[in-house]
Order: sequence, then structure tokens, then C-alpha cells
Amino acid sequence: MSQVYVSQHPLVQHKLSVLRDSATDHRSFRELMRELALLLMYEATLDLKLSPKQVTTPMGETMGVKADETIGLVPILRAGLGMVEGALALLPNVQVWHLGFYRDEKTLRPVAYYNRLPNTATVQLCLLLDPMLATGGSAVAAVDVLKKWGAPRIKYVGLIAAPEGVERLSAAHPDVPIHVASIDERLNDVGFIVPGLGDAGDRQFGT
Ligand code: PRP
Repeated sequence: MSQVYVSQHPLVQHKLSVLRDSATDHRSFRELMRELALLLMYEATLDLKLSPKQVTTPMGETMGVKADETIGLVPILRAGLGMVEGALALLPNVQVWHLGFYRDEKTLRPVAYYNRLPNTATVQLCLLLDPMLATGGSAVAAVDVLKKWGAPRIKYVGLIAAPEGVERLSAAHPDVPIHVASIDERLNDVGFIVPGLGDAGDRQFGT
């Protein structure tokens, strides 16, 4: 079973409620996604590896630290794009690698359509970004790709999960921690998270 972290931060819960509201317009939706991604990334990076580093202050020498784990952000297109800016606000020097999956509307199975990973793994920690963990099919497929690529450490960072998605990702990849703002009630019969927020891609991009 994966470690599952549901943020208890009051600002995360407040912003998530505004994000869910069907009256929230596209512009506000994108802004909230950016802010939520930053807050969730703060929590998902609590165990980043540090090495000692000598620092010269205006008053003298001291021992500091350096976060030197090589990190890659891996947004799943399209909806994961909305989390990149917020994540980059916290980690401005990391690499960003895009993976494209869409969910077949009838079978709900993920269909891979884009992959910009280089031939060999270049990062020590991959932070997979996708706001919605519904059936879990897309996240499992993305982690499959990252492991095959050679990613040594992977975390999933999302906004809303269905219990079914958490179970599926956990079962397939128990070594991948899951960070979300909420685990909702269930999936409905067309694979949407209830109460959820609708379609995160459509709400960001006005489609
Ligand atoms: C949504 C969402 C996830 C996926 C989750 O993407 O952003 O990637 O579905 O569903 P799953 O857990 O059942 O796989 P969608 O297929 O709607 O594509 P989009 O991001 O391009 O809108």
C-alpha cells in the first residue's frame, strides 16, 4: 500500500472548495490550480535530500545545506499543465518532462499520445503532476513509463482522488507516495469523481 497524504492545510481546503464551485470561471480556476500546486508541492517535498554546504554570511562562515536531488516535474497532459507553474514557483530550476495520456470515453482506459522523456533517466526524483486520480489508469500508465525509463524515485501529486484511483495506483505501485488535497466519495458510472470538480482540463482551458 502506498503512503497516502491528504493535505490538512486550511488554505488548501479553502482553495479546493472554491475550485470545485461550478461558478468559478476559467481564469480563477487556473489561478487556484497554480496556488494549490505550490502548497501541495511544499508538502510533497518535505523529505527532499540535503547535503551540507559551507555558507559565507556577511558575519562569517557557517554550515548550511543544499537541496541537490535532481528533480523532474512530469505533468500529464493536458490537465497536469495547470500544476506546473505553481510547482516551478517552488522549484525554479528543475526539469519538466511532458507525458500525454487521454482517457478513452467508452473504455476509460488511458491512451498514450505524447512522450518527451529523453532516452535515459536524467532525474533522481520524479514528481508526477495530474489534478485528477479517477480510475487511476492514467497515473498507473504514467508510472509504468517512468519506471521503464529508469526513474529511481517517483511521487504522485494531484488535487482530487477517488478511492478507486488511490487503490489502483497503490496496488500497482506501492512504492509511489500519493499526495492529494482530497479523497472524494466515489466514481460515478461514467468515471467522473463525485463530488469532484468536473473535468479539470475543460475547466482550465475553457473547452
Ligand atoms: C483526466 C485527468 C487525468 C485522467 C484521470 O484527463 O486529467 O489525466 O483523466 O482519469 P483516470 O484516473 O481514470 O485515468 P483526460 O483524459 O480528461 O484528459 P485531459 O487532461 O486532456 O482533459
